[in-house]
Amino acid sequence: MLAVAFPAWHIKLPFVNPQQVSEEVSQYAAHPHFELPALPYSYEALEPHVDAQTMRIHHDRHHRAYVDNLNKAILPAPEWHHSSLDHLMTNISKVPENIRTAVRNNGGGHWNHSFFWKIMTPQAGGSPSGRLREALMAHWETMERFQEAFAKAALSVFGSGWAWLIADNSGRLSITTTPNQDNPLMDIVAERGKPVLGVDVWEHAYYLKHQNRRADYLKDWWNVINWQQAMANYG
Ligand SMILES: [Fe+2]
Repeated sequence: MLAVAFPAWHIKLPFVNPQQVSEEVSQYAAHPHFELPALPYSYEALEPHVDAQTMRIHHDRHHRAYVDNLNKAILPAPEWHHSSLDHLMTNISKVPENIRTAVRNNGGGHWNHSFFWKIMTPQAGGSPSGRLREALMAHWETMERFQEAFAKAALSVFGSGWAWLIADNSGRLSITTTPNQDNPLMDIVAERGKPVLGVDVWEHAYYLKHQNRRADYLKDWWNVINWQQAMANYG
């Protein structure tokens, strides 16, 4: 079929009916789209490396608050009500300005934590293989050097944020950090890429067990990495 391109001035904008918008808003408030995912293991499953109380508060309170606040934040913007979380992240700059900061912080919090639970597992151990291993070795030569570089980046985050291992379109790996709940999918961050690994360095992720010792938390964290998931993320 022949596609005919019309100049943009031929496109009619849809009529926005305020009553319809308010119905959509109240429907969304009753049945919000974004939901807290269940942890893929029990609260105590990552002991002794990540303690049960931290997992419980982190998932049930912090992550839940991000989900609830994201649902509240997008309430006045029906065009985003049924967006996928990935789409929301990769198009964050297009979210209406009056709700963008709340969607960025809480949508980012929801995406980041959903990713984080899956990158840890009680069946951890071993090391990556296949394409991910090759890409890691191509950049850092040994796993020890990669882990050192990753921990250094995670320690360099001032205040709250995340450290990430990301891949570009050609599969080349790099390490980056984001402040607050930003992530490398967002179309507003300095360095974008596909997240392969990510670690939460907000104090709420480690304070109960490690107090202010972020380096000790990071040392423990390597013991619960789900390399199978990291390999799947890398593709
Ligand atoms: Fe967190």
